[in-house]
Amino acid sequence: MLLHLANVLDAPAVARMRAALAAAEWTDGRETVGSQGAQVKRNQQLPDASPLRAQLGREVLAACARHPLFHTATLPVKILPPRFNRYADGGTYGAHVDGAVMALTDGSQLRSDIACTLFLADPDSYDGGELVVDDTYGEHEAKLPAGDAVVYPASSLHRVEPVTRGARIAAFFWIQSLVREEAQRRTLLQLDGAIQRLTDDHANVAAVKQLTGVYHNLLRQWAQT
Ligand code: NI
Repeated sequence: MLLHLANVLDAPAVARMRAALAAAEWTDGRETVGSQGAQVKRNQQLPDASPLRAQLGREVLAACARHPLFHTATLPVKILPPRFNRYADGGTYGAHVDGAVMALTDGSQLRSDIACTLFLADPDSYDGGELVVDDTYGEHEAKLPAGDAVVYPASSLHRVEPVTRGARIAAFFWIQSLVREEAQRRTLLQLDGAIQRLTDDHANVAAVKQLTGVYHNLLRQWAQT
């Protein structure tokens, strides 16, 4: 499932980040991938140790935490600090699957259940650069307004189409979810959405409480802490 999170960052925040990134030093994106990725990855990234990456990464995660759908959709246990990338001059990232286990700086590891891309460039300012995700229901494309994000299963085969004009700037990161299985996360998200709508409609209070109990009992069965 590809889930679109609209307005994670507002226009002034996007403009501030873009200005900071325009003045940044970029490095070859192949520095952070294994041999599978290195063969198909042609882009630039902020260096992992860059203070700007750390600062903007914290802002991105704070904005995600404020978004009404982010937590329910991802149920995060651990999040890899965001990285920032730039695709220009034909830059592309051919079809690949993300590494399953990633190292965190505290020495622990993260299982990459979910990938998130936060778009930072206006889609009219560049050609190409679609994120194409191939899941069990076929191919889905995302090229979103600046400030919007997409979350999708990191287990899916995905690619970024070549950027033939302008520059595609984005933040990206991975999440280890309390709920490892995508189908179970989707069920919980749908149930949460239905409970929310029933609550807004002042539906039968006892029935809403019962459904809320079902949500938590499913989460209790499926959560891996
Ligand atoms: Ni990827």
